Amino acid sequence: MKKAVSEANINLSQIDAVSCTYGPGLVGALLVGVSYAKALSYSLNKPLIGVNHLEGHIDANYITHKDLEPPFLCVMMSGGNTQIVHVKDYTTFEILGKTKDDAIGEAFDKVARVIGLGYPGGPKIDKLAKDGKPIIQLPRVHMDNLDFSFSGIKTAVINLHHKTPDINKADLAASFEDAVSDMLITNVEKAINLTKMKKIVLAGGVSANSYIREKFDTLAKDKNIQVYYPELKLCTDNAAMIASAGYYEYLQGDKADLTLNAMPNLKFC
Ligand code: KG4
Repeated sequence: MKKAVSEANINLSQIDAVSCTYGPGLVGALLVGVSYAKALSYSLNKPLIGVNHLEGHIDANYITHKDLEPPFLCVMMSGGNTQIVHVKDYTTFEILGKTKDDAIGEAFDKVARVIGLGYPGGPKIDKLAKDGKPIIQLPRVHMDNLDFSFSGIKTAVINLHHKTPDINKADLAASFEDAVSDMLITNVEKAINLTKMKKIVLAGGVSANSYIREKFDTLAKDKNIQVYYPELKLCTDNAAMIASAGYYEYLQGDKADLTLNAMPNLKFC
């Protein structure tokens, strides 16, 4: 299948369709994007395509990896979601497991705030952890199924920091990353056994994390599978990933009309 254009200087006359995300997310931001896209599509007389934000995160990978094709397993790790998704085709998805409480990015951000790193916490924990070692024992929650729970590890780190203010923060950050990586990889191994998929795709802001990437690279070698992640600038929210998802929805014939509206709680498949 022909791939979406990744980066190019284009003018309005070269646009075939206009895509925008209409959920899930914060209603104010969604309304601005949806209104702009509707106006642009109407004025250019080009089709309008409404895209699920999470589909955009997955499809960021098609921009970075021209050879990537479904089916594969996607580990969706963002500020608001953590899911293992079976990507059966470009526009067909099945959620195999998801977080029962905090999203992984939320856990990164809350831990970072409490240990004094500020917001957004993910990149700051990533940097600090490089100076530390994962030597502090932290609890791992492993569910019977493919779901996750990150609130326990978050609270454990926060409590430890309050009880032992002199604790080495770099070691704490490294140990936190090690514990969440363990939890992710355990469930991904279960999902591999269940689906027999040989390709694992990371998506969402937390897929920028260097320690998590290293752990998945090791998994790839151990299990003889392929691991993909988006280039750094496409991990966190961006417009290119929504264009990529819009491209595949367009090929599928999924078009919206001018009644398209923001849906802050839009479900993913
Ligand atoms: O996907 P995203 O841009 O927004 C949502 O759609 O939710 O993800 C934002 C999240 C934030 O929680 C941020 O701390 C986290 O991604 N993040 C990282 C890193 N870069 C961004 N977490 C861990 N390590 C990073 N390097």
